[in-house]
Amino acid sequence: MCGIVGYVGKERAVPYLIEGLKRLEYRGYDSAGVAVLNKDTIDVVKDVGRVKNLESEPMLDLLNGTVGIAHTRWATHGKPSKVNAHPHLDNSKTFAVVHNGIIENYNEIKTLLQENGYTLFSTSDTEVIPNLISLNYKKCNDVLKAVSQTVKELQGSFALEVISPLIPDRIIIAKKDCPLVVGVGKNENYVASDMPAILEHTKSFYFIEDLEIGVIKSDSITFYDFDLNEKQKELKDVDLDAVASEKNGYDDYMLKEINEQSQVIKETIGTALDGDKITLPLDNIDFSKYDKIYIVACGTAMHAGIASKYAFEKYCRKNVIVEPASEFRYKDPIIDEHTLCIFISQSGETADTIAALKLAKQNKALTIAIVNVIGSSITRLADYTLYTHAGPEIAVASTKAYTCQIILLVLLALYIAQDLKTCDEEQIKKLENEIKLIPDKVKQELEDTEKIKKIARDIYVNSDVFFIGRLSDYATALEGSLKLKEISYIHSEAYPAGELKHGPIALIENGVPVIGIATNEKVIAKIISNLEEVVTRGAKVVFITNKDLSEYSSTLSEFSYIIDVPDCDDALSPIVSIVPLQLLAYYISKNKNLDVDKPRNLAKSVTVE
Ligand code: M6R
Repeated sequence: MCGIVGYVGKERAVPYLIEGLKRLEYRGYDSAGVAVLNKDTIDVVKDVGRVKNLESEPMLDLLNGTVGIAHTRWATHGKPSKVNAHPHLDNSKTFAVVHNGIIENYNEIKTLLQENGYTLFSTSDTEVIPNLISLNYKKCNDVLKAVSQTVKELQGSFALEVISPLIPDRIIIAKKDCPLVVGVGKNENYVASDMPAILEHTKSFYFIEDLEIGVIKSDSITFYDFDLNEKQKELKDVDLDAVASEKNGYDDYMLKEINEQSQVIKETIGTALDGDKITLPLDNIDFSKYDKIYIVACGTAMHAGIASKYAFEKYCRKNVIVEPASEFRYKDPIIDEHTLCIFISQSGETADTIAALKLAKQNKALTIAIVNVIGSSITRLADYTLYTHAGPEIAVASTKAYTCQIILLVLLALYIAQDLKTCDEEQIKKLENEIKLIPDKVKQELEDTEKIKKIARDIYVNSDVFFIGRLSDYATALEGSLKLKEISYIHSEAYPAGELKHGPIALIENGVPVIGIATNEKVIAKIISNLEEVVTRGAKVVFITNKDLSEYSSTLSEFSYIIDVPDCDDALSPIVSIVPLQLLAYYISKNKNLDVDKPRNLAKSVTVE
């Protein structure tokens, strides 16, 4: 959460900073600001709300400096307001800082600063940083030493940039537990929370590790540890396409990303399925050593874990436990060298998932990460990484990353099953063939969206929506419900269908939409009867299935809408059945005239816990 960007070169910094902020806005959009060096002073412009508000500030045109830093905020400490917006300055206006993360000991530092005559004007934790640099500078008269001393005194998480007229040709950066990259250009260099912010200018990156400091000038970059011992780092060329981060004619990123699913699922399959052979970069793992599997993630990524748990159980015959990373990290999980822990994350930067991964490693579990963002923190921590090839996902609501995660998890389950010989070759071949058909099936679903638009027009006025399913359809219910609530602000809940009678059915009254998903033969009759029970109580039922249910035609005629999705193996049905629900959430949000890509209170990468 929060995006930071920096430019040091020969041109005006502001256009680079604004453009970078726009690309980082998915990380937060409560306020935005820039600080640019101007001979002996620092010019700061900031505004509440979106980057476009900042961009329309006339003051920006007066900033001609070639060294600058910028920030787009997702508020943690202190309300979204101009005074709390970054960059923050110290009392003498000598140091400007932008910061992503949370300073946990800011109260102690605040007291120390006040005892030394400093005044803090905001309620943001970040304001202590430039002031602490200032206090430390007074003791050593050296900006780099003052920054190094300061970061050693900070507790919590931070990716930060510092500029000062005392060092007019450079940006100092430092990182602990928040993402930060340095992009290398010709006579100019860039800093950003994430590569897409600067991809248009460079494809050569340094990935900053925890406890590293960098001094970024236009013609040189030097790295140090926190004790200022110089470090060598490897420059990496990244094969990413800046155009993939554009809207390409779609109204919103989310709609573009939903529509990309057929292609990106195909690409993800292509990296793992070579003819009839599943090849994953997991050599030398003896899977028979592991007696249980933990799948740990947050939000949508966790739903991908729930959706694929059944495939692991069915094909690998292992116990599978799926847990939110935020819970896993604080319990005393029963894991050891015989546990396989799979971590799933689109961004690869989610703070809770990172902490859970570190805990698993401490306990000697084998860790495999399923990640979308190349080079992200989780990929650097896990024993093995498998990449989803979803491309940049910009909309806060995750769509294409989710379906790619499921396909890759199913492929992983098959890979392990192959190794363990827990299912016969014919079974594996059959599922492989079904996997290859999924991209076309998803494409077919995206061709005609008229029915979904009609349902959206019907239910966007409702204030509560319920989703029910059984087995992997329950994962689809959870994910459909999350999509709806995060971008339409409609209260929605998901239940395993059999749980309705144990309480939630009390909430069903005339006109309440209940969305039932039924793709698993074993439980279709059960879920149809659960839906009958809510129809009796006045619910408006939307029924999603991929089976021929003519034998139930009289019951089905009582449902308001039936959405047929392509038939496929149970292991893959969470992919085909989520597509209409992603579209439904999207069109409901559009009917309510909301900002689909940037829903309130949310950020794409949750880099604080
Ligand atoms: O980057 P990650 O996959 O680790 O993110 C996990 C969740 O924050 C994320 O899936 C979130 O739930 C999405 N906004 C849902 O659309």
